[in-house]
Parts: sequence; structure tokens; C-alpha cells
Amino acid sequence: MDFYDIGLGNNDAKTRTLANQDGVKFWESQAKNLFWSEQWHTALEWNPPFAKWFVGGKTNASYNALDVTVRKNPDKKAILWEGEDGSQRVLTYQDLLSQVSKLANALKKLGVKKGDRVTVYLPMVPELIVSLLACARIGAIHTVIFSGFSAQSIRDRVVDSKSSVIITADGGRRRGTIIKLKDVVDDAIADLDFVKNVIILEHVGNRVTYTARDRKWGEFVDSMESSCDAEMLDSAHPLYILYTSGTTGKPKGVLHGTGGYLTHVFATFKWIFDICDSDVYFCTADIGWVTGHSYVVYGPLMHGATQVMYEGALDYPNSARMWEIIARYRVTILYTTPTALRMFMKSGDDIPNSNDLTSLRLLGTVGEPINPQVWKWYFKTIGKEKCPIIDTWWQTETGAAMISPLPGIETIPLKPGSATRPVPGVCISIVDNAGKKVSPGSKGYLVVENPWPGMLLTLWGDDEKYKAVYWSKYKNMYYAGDYAKMDNDGYIWMLGRADDVLKVAGHRLGTAEIESGFVSHGMVAESAVCGIPHEVKGESIIAFLVLKDGVTATQQLKEDLIRHIRKTVGSVATPDQLFFVKKLPKTRSGKIMRRLLKAIAQDEKIGDVSTLEDEASVDEVKSALAELQYALGKP
Ligand code: WTA
Repeated sequence: MDFYDIGLGNNDAKTRTLANQDGVKFWESQAKNLFWSEQWHTALEWNPPFAKWFVGGKTNASYNALDVTVRKNPDKKAILWEGEDGSQRVLTYQDLLSQVSKLANALKKLGVKKGDRVTVYLPMVPELIVSLLACARIGAIHTVIFSGFSAQSIRDRVVDSKSSVIITADGGRRRGTIIKLKDVVDDAIADLDFVKNVIILEHVGNRVTYTARDRKWGEFVDSMESSCDAEMLDSAHPLYILYTSGTTGKPKGVLHGTGGYLTHVFATFKWIFDICDSDVYFCTADIGWVTGHSYVVYGPLMHGATQVMYEGALDYPNSARMWEIIARYRVTILYTTPTALRMFMKSGDDIPNSNDLTSLRLLGTVGEPINPQVWKWYFKTIGKEKCPIIDTWWQTETGAAMISPLPGIETIPLKPGSATRPVPGVCISIVDNAGKKVSPGSKGYLVVENPWPGMLLTLWGDDEKYKAVYWSKYKNMYYAGDYAKMDNDGYIWMLGRADDVLKVAGHRLGTAEIESGFVSHGMVAESAVCGIPHEVKGESIIAFLVLKDGVTATQQLKEDLIRHIRKTVGSVATPDQLFFVKKLPKTRSGKIMRRLLKAIAQDEKIGDVSTLEDEASVDEVKSALAELQYALGKP
């Protein structure tokens, strides 16, 4: 077993001691690091599975993210922005506060009130951060949609959240082309009357058509007053909805609150990144995903940090881009994904070696399991064996990091491929199907045993689904949907999803939403999608489709179907491989036997199907499998 003990990090044993003594009291002590206009009277109200943290307390996320720093140091640089085309912008905390106030006033003018939803569909530009904080400032609930999602996906989310206002741009830049965001939004909401207004940022100079409900950011927002008081809100007031994929049906709206969420984000940002005033932080995540919410927007800004924000592909125009950015801005902390690292690793060591990476002191990773060899490459080639690798495990639902090394408070030896131990105040176990703890080294399901401050409040508009998805497998334990094991030292090793959630290039997608995307095409009768290991992306999508009677399978149809998926779900859901088959392996009750699909796609031995699923008609399954193998070109 490899151990890496580079002795970096602070040694502050009392944080863990306090947390172990009394978790709730411990989180209360952490909450005191935020600004509150009124103190809470009850630290935690726990009506399983619904938690309310810091009840009676009043605060505001945008105040904590901006005003707190502006009062001390208004000229502190908040964002060092770089566009894919090389353009640069620098925004101070005061600049951000003025822009946020203008947009908050603009939203009020459009009639947006506390609790109303605002959808945000923007590229990685400072105005994306401004949009989130402007909503938070007036108590509106932001719901960001990643710009790789299609019109249909936007429509589904806007309908579910009933957003009255959408904020978008004339376009965004990626890989040298312009993504026409406003056109996509127009498509998505053409017949949605409850969307009263669309605010459009003119970012790339793309010509768009304006309708009566459209407002130009440059005119409408810029003409507003540049001050706006932050509305102090109940601690449990919803801060945002973020749609994320699950096992069944359409993406669900994970709802996060204010005081508890901010406390968890604030504390973990400090513990994980040991942030200090002189740091230059760079998180490569898009704000369309939870990492961007917690560790691009709220975490760094609440700490008054300076960060690099980049719009575009990290390997554009070539694979030196990310390293050049790090050298140009003297980045000290990098937080990125295993997918990005695998991609750069493939281009060899010469490229990173020819850039000055000496400013780096801490290297983070998130979103998917990091292979030990990639971990070691990150440690040696990028960090020159001086920077700890911080592998952080968490989920959209958990709000902030749950398992991670914490250089801000402790120094422990690292093991490549393990996210180490749960953060203080979070109690994680690995259990079997019956909820009993498994012995060290054994694979089981990861559960969280106590409520924690960053936990989701519920699923938007669907408390029953919230209970069913996360709290029905085990009594009073949160079911994360991940396999994991714990070793003898208490280190946790993540072993991938235990359900039908995919992680493709770090992006979370559900097989169900891609399958319904295919079936919505008039020529497809049935579809089954699964993920198979991919050298760079971690996982890639493979789809098996049964066509309707009389439809001929052609190359042209394949291409149409790929276009169709990009249109219905989005470019993120593009399958790498697509096969036409006559039938799918199913149980007698009609459930697709995904495990077999996956096994066959990965070339694993299937064994005797009759012992695997007694419910299935063995002959049917065998012939379906033979067909799949034939389609895949396997003997
Ligand atoms: C996976 C991303 C291994 C996991 C913040 C989880 C990880 C899902 C790690 C949540 C990690 C995240 N090691 N697996 N360090 N981090 N995952 O909601 O399967 O996009 O359940 O949140 O990503 O994905 P989500």
C-alpha cells in the first residue's frame, strides 16, 4: 500500500475532538463564522428525514459572499476572468457588489419576489456569479442549467420550477465556436406564458431576435441603482434548486437552504483548501454543476478569496491551455476533475513541464473516482511531490464535501485513490443490504448516519420522492447510491455508483433520461443505455435500440438518433456507441437486465443466466444477449 506523508497542513486536533463530542454543537460553532442579522434559537430541528438548521437565525447568502469582504477590503480582487479567445477581465469585490445590486434591483423591477424562481442559462462569465448572488440578495431561488443541456431539458426544468424570469446570453464560447444560448432558450420557452421576462447578456456579439418579454442586460440592468440592501432571510429559506439525474424519470430538483448550506460550504472550503489572503484559487468546474455552486460561487467568495474563472475548453486551442492559465495567474490552489487530468496525462509530461507551475501548493479533485495512477501523476508531474492531493467525495444532494483530506486542520498520510476520511461533524458508514456495517475491506453501500448542515431540504415540490429516493432503503440513514469500502485505517475507497446514474466526463446523467430521449424519436420502440469504462471520460455511454416494426436500420438513422439525443437531452448525453438490436434482455416483468447489458458491453463473462435472474425467461434472455454480442462484433 502506498502512503504519501508530505507533512503539509495544519495540526488542529480540537476541531475533530469537538465534532466527536457533539456534532450539532460543533456545527453551531462553525455557523458563528458567518454573518447573521439574528441569532438562531435552535441549532437543529430534525424531523426525519427533514432537517432545519439554525432555526430562528436570519442571514443572506449574497451578504456573506460580498458585503462581508467589501466592508473590510472593497478593492480585493474577486475574479480574474479569462475567455477562450484570450480576453481578460478583473472584478473586485466592490465591482461584484455593484453589479449584483443592479441586477437585484432589475429583478425586483420585473416583479420577482422572495421565493420566486429564476432560471439561469449562461456561459462561465462573471455575470453568472452575479446572477446567482442577485437572486440570493432578494431571496429569489436560483436554478442554474448547464449550457450543455438542450432546449427540451431547459423546458422540463423551467416548467418544473415555474420560473418567471430567465437570464441568458446571446452566446457562449467553446472550442472556437459560439453556442447560441438565447436561441436555445427561445426554443425552450416559446409557449410558456408564465415566463414573464428574459434578460439577455450581450457577450459574444451574436445577433439575436428580441421579443416583448426580452430585456437587454446592457440597457435594462445597467441602468439600475448600484446599491440594494440584502434581504435577511430565515436560515432554512431556499437558496437554490439544482436539477440532477437519478435512477428513474426526469432529473429531480435538489433544493438547498441558506444558513446550514452556507455553514457547511464555508467550513469545508477552509478545511480543504486552507485558504489564505494571498491565494489564487482556480476551480475548473462549470457553475452549471454543484461544484461550481459551492466551490466557485459561495465558498471562495464567503472567504474573500481571489479566483480565476475561465470560459471555454481547458484544452483549447491545445493541451497547454490549463497550465498556461495556472502560470499566468500564479494559481496556488487547483480544483479539477479526474477526467481533465486523464486528458492532460495523455498528452505527456512535456507540456506541463514547460510551464511554470511553481505557484501551486494544493491540488484538489472531485466528481469521479480518481485512478491511483492518475493521482500519482497529479502528485508528481503537476505538484512536483510538494502539493497534497485532495480527493473530495460529495454529491449535489450533500451540498458540500463529505469525505476529504483537510490540510486546513490536519495532516494525515494520503493514499492514492482514497478520499480518506469523513469531514468532522459528518458520520459515514458502509453497510450491507440490511443496513448492517460491513467489515473493513468489504464492499457495501455508503450511508450518512446523521443530518448534516449542507444536506438538501427536499426535492422541489416532491417530499414523497425525497423520502423514497434517499430515506427508504434504510431507516434514518441517508442512502447515497454509491458503493464504497473502508480499510483498516478508516480510509474510505469509493467504488462507483450502485444505481443507474452515470458519470460521463464528470457530468452526472441518468440512463432513464437518455432512454426516454431515444424513445421520444418516432422510430424507436425500446432503448437501453448503460455506461462502460472509458480511458479519459471515466465512463462513456453505450445505447442499444430496438426499432419499431418496419423501420430499417441505416447509418443515416444512427446519425439522426444521435442528433435527436443532443436535441432532447443535450450534447452532454451523446452516446459513444449505438447499436440496433431486435430485443433486449428482460425479466418476465419487463425490466431490462442492465447488469447483463453492462457486462456484455464490457466483455465480462455472463455465466449462467438461469441462476442470475430466476424471474427471467432464460431462452429469451440468451437470444437477446447473443444478439447484443453479435451487434458488438463479439463472438
Ligand atoms: C461521484 C459532484 C469518487 C459519486 C460533486 C457521487 C465521486 C456522484 C467523487 C455525485 C470522488 C463525486 N470519488 N466518486 N471524489 N466525487 N463522486 O451530484 O458517484 O454531480 O455519488 O456531485 O459523483 O455527483 P454530483
